[in-house]
Formats: sequence, structure tokens, C-alpha cells
Amino acid sequence: MRILVTGGAGFIGSHVCEQALATGHEVAALDDLSNGKRENLPEGVPLFEVDIRDKDALAKAFADFRPDAVSHQAAQASVSVSVREPLMDADVNVLGSINVLEACAAHDCANFVFASTGGAIYGEIAEPELAAVGRPPIPESPYAAAKLAVEGYLTFYRDRGLSCTVLRYANIYGPRQDPHGEAGVVAIFCQRLLAGAPVQVNARAEAGDRGCLRDYTYVDDVVKANLAALGGECPHPLMNIGTGIATDTQTLLETLQAQGDFSSEVSFTPPREGDVQRSVLEVSPFVDTFGTPMSVAEGLPKTMAWFKDR
Ligand SMILES: NC(=O)c1ccc[n+]([C@@H]2O[C@H](COP(=O)([O-])OP(=O)(O)OC[C@H]3O[C@@H](n4cnc5c(N)ncnc54)[C@H](O)[C@@H]3O)[C@@H](O)[C@H]2O)c1
Repeated sequence: MRILVTGGAGFIGSHVCEQALATGHEVAALDDLSNGKRENLPEGVPLFEVDIRDKDALAKAFADFRPDAVSHQAAQASVSVSVREPLMDADVNVLGSINVLEACAAHDCANFVFASTGGAIYGEIAEPELAAVGRPPIPESPYAAAKLAVEGYLTFYRDRGLSCTVLRYANIYGPRQDPHGEAGVVAIFCQRLLAGAPVQVNARAEAGDRGCLRDYTYVDDVVKANLAALGGECPHPLMNIGTGIATDTQTLLETLQAQGDFSSEVSFTPPREGDVQRSVLEVSPFVDTFGTPMSVAEGLPKTMAWFKDR
């Protein structure tokens, strides 16, 4: 298969490229490098340096590569940026995504896989609940609203013959995640612990608590689901990708601190505006299809080891 990965030079997209290439597919990345890096791409994966808002450049890339399947990872991927710049977020995440869908429809692409969000789309998940796909979404940020809007457009494109799979990711972490943004606490902690720089635990309810609860999921699990969906082999058109297990920020930090002799100062700050306190996904369809996801006990040391090697 010829697989085009939008956002392929980013964190998750580069892992999708790598694994798709390793399993024998012809792979290309399409990325404007606004956040991604060329060096994230494995050798043998050409890059179309294109902004998904640029319809003509997109059409040219599709005409050149003629993808059978598209993994659409390209996005303005930060919730807090979307809160500050909702128009820019919608421009990239809604209009840009429609451009990609239009290009798929115009160039006979068979499968479209959409990187949506389970972490932001369901809103607050009270203890001991898990967010199942049937739960009505409560998109509290422009970022989540944009992802939900694109999910809505897929009915229209399915009717036009494009097979579409929505993967709602939990909080994904792993090698190559950008440690310099506002999201991606695992990458931020790894980088700052290794640099001896101070780290902060943003409160869940009040400063000094153990921080928000999230469903931290290793990137390989997201890649598995993407590859199956790209081949039309994902049994569910809408699926949560996560572990179903909540981990608080303090536990995350302690697990990473146990991987070395770190001297970073830790401060405890009030809750961050817009952060939900608890977000955990119901993932039994994912587990039934792809097996048990990697635990944080295994995934965090692997991630720290990668940052150490750098
Ligand atoms: N990381 C997570 O925890 C998480 C959770 C839920 C959903 N997602 C979604 O998964 C996808 C990948 O996220 P990531 O964590 O790898 O982020 P990332 O920022 O590393 O990757 C996104 C890529 O898209 C590219 N991009 C941004 N705007 C573009 C544009 N206008 N045209 C072309 N390329 C553009 C960036 O340069 C970057 O390489 C995104 O759609 C994100 O919303 C991520």
C-alpha cells in the first residue's frame, strides 16, 4: 500500500511512518514542519513540505504520491494554543482537515484514519467512570470542538465512498515527543529531569495535591491501531485508544525520578485553566482487538531511556 502520513514529521506521525515502512508499505510524510522535524523521519520516507491549508500544494502532493490510505495526524495539537487562538486552531484543524479529505476523495484514496482526541473530547470524567465512545462529547476547548467537527464531516465523506476510521487518543507519550511545548508532560519531565531543571506539578484541585489524572498511553499502541485502520482492518469505525488506567502527575514524576539520580527542584502550582481534573478512557474494544496496552511502569522507563540516549 502507498500510505501518506500527514503530520508525519511530528511525534506520533513519525512513529506511524516508521512502522508502516517496517511492515513493507511505501510511505510518504506530509508536514509543514511548524512543529515537526525532518530528522524525525526514517530514511526512505520522502517529505512533502506542505501546509494542509494550501489546497493546491496538497493536490499536487496527492497527485504525485497517489496514496491508497492516509493517516491524518497533522494538527495544531495544543489545547492551550487553541484557547488563545481559536481561529487559527479551526483554520488548521477543521479547514485543513477538510482539505485533506477533499484531496482523498479527488484522488481515489480508499482509507482515511483520523487522529482525534479522547483526552479532550469527553470533558470531565468523574471517579470511578471511564469515558466510552458512546458517551456524549463535551468539548470544552476549541481544540476538542475542532476534532469533533471533523468527526462529523466523516459521514459525508463515507457517503462518497471513503472508508474512515476515527481513533480517539488518550494522552500519548514516548520517544520523539516534543519536550518544549505546553503539552506532553512525560517529555517535559524527562527533558527537565535530565537537565537538572526545575519541574512543576500542576494541581488537580488545589496546589500541593498529586495533580490531574490522565490515561497515559505509549505511542506504539496508537501506531498499532493506525496501521490496522490504514489497511481497513480495524473492526470499529470509532475507537478509543488508551489503557483505561488513570495515573496522576505525581506518580508519573516519581516513576521517572526512579530512573536516575536527579536533583530537579519540584514545585506545586495551582490548577491550570482549562485542564480537566480526570480523564480516563474505556478501552475494551481496543484491548479485544490489539491486546493489553503497555503499562506506564514499562513505557515510562523506555521513554526516559530514549531521552537519556539523546
Ligand atoms: N500527543 C497526544 O497525546 C495526542 C492526544 C490526542 C490526539 N492527538 C492528535 O494526534 C496527532 C499527532 O499529535 P502529536 O502529539 O504527534 O503532535 P505533533 O505536533 O508532534 O505532530 C503534529 C504535526 O503536524 C504538523 N502540522 C501542524 N500544522 C500543520 C499544517 N498546517 N500543515 C501540515 N502539517 C502541520 C506539525 O509540524 C507536526 O509535525 C494530532 O492530530 C493531535 O491532535 C495527540
